Amino acid sequence: MPTLSDPPKPTVVLSVGGSVLVTGDNDVGYLRELATLLKAEGQRSSLAVTTGGGRTAREYIRIGRELGLTEVELDDIGIDVTRLHARLLAAQVGPPTPTHVPATIAQAVHELHHASPVILGGTEPGHTTDGVAALLAVRLRAARLVNATNVDGVYDRDPRTFPGAHRIDVLDWASFGRMVAETTRVEEAGQQAIFDRLGAGLLARARIPLSVVHGRDLKAVRSALRGEKFVGTRIG
Ligand code: UTP
Repeated sequence: MPTLSDPPKPTVVLSVGGSVLVTGDNDVGYLRELATLLKAEGQRSSLAVTTGGGRTAREYIRIGRELGLTEVELDDIGIDVTRLHARLLAAQVGPPTPTHVPATIAQAVHELHHASPVILGGTEPGHTTDGVAALLAVRLRAARLVNATNVDGVYDRDPRTFPGAHRIDVLDWASFGRMVAETTRVEEAGQQAIFDRLGAGLLARARIPLSVVHGRDLKAVRSALRGEKFVGTRIG
């Protein structure tokens, strides 16, 4: 039971990419360990977590696009997949397992008054779960946002294409904003930019630092959540 003399818990937001959650490589072991970590960190801080849709979302979006569905309809399909991942993770973090994944930022904020961690997927068409995480961080006046993705930080060039690419350990918002804009194609469902454009702008404006870590490196995820030194990139 918290007392008045307890120091206030920091509020932290974590965005876990779908490409980290379900990869086909030891997903069950990873989800178990991630859930254990989230349970522990959810006690130390007020923790909101978003889950991405990854390759499952992209596969459904690809089929829908071939069928001629609109971008909004494709976004909705992506959102449903992100919620599937939220359900999977929340069930492992529970009990109690919430019956419904929070569908809006307002619902997630409300839930966070009663429980931590709160886990959700997407909310509205037109952005990604990184964008949802940024919106939540701003609403909650979070101390930091951690982006757990499938690379161990932000690189000067795409490390998947350029083996000589270098990780950048510290970045300012202006440089990061330019990098996000360069990797964002026309706004379309299922695209993979380094971060959500709307989200990057919101964080910069609110001066909430963003930490980018490899989601499968749970030591880095834990350190970044705690605001300690971590392997990855710090923006802000
Ligand atoms: P993701 O957040 O998974 O996007 O949402 P992503 O960029 O593909 O990220 P990774 O690969 O998981 O890290 C998947 C898709 O769902 C729709 C978008 O089309 C997005 O590309 N979506 C998601 C929304 O429209 N709104 C949301 O709030 C979330």
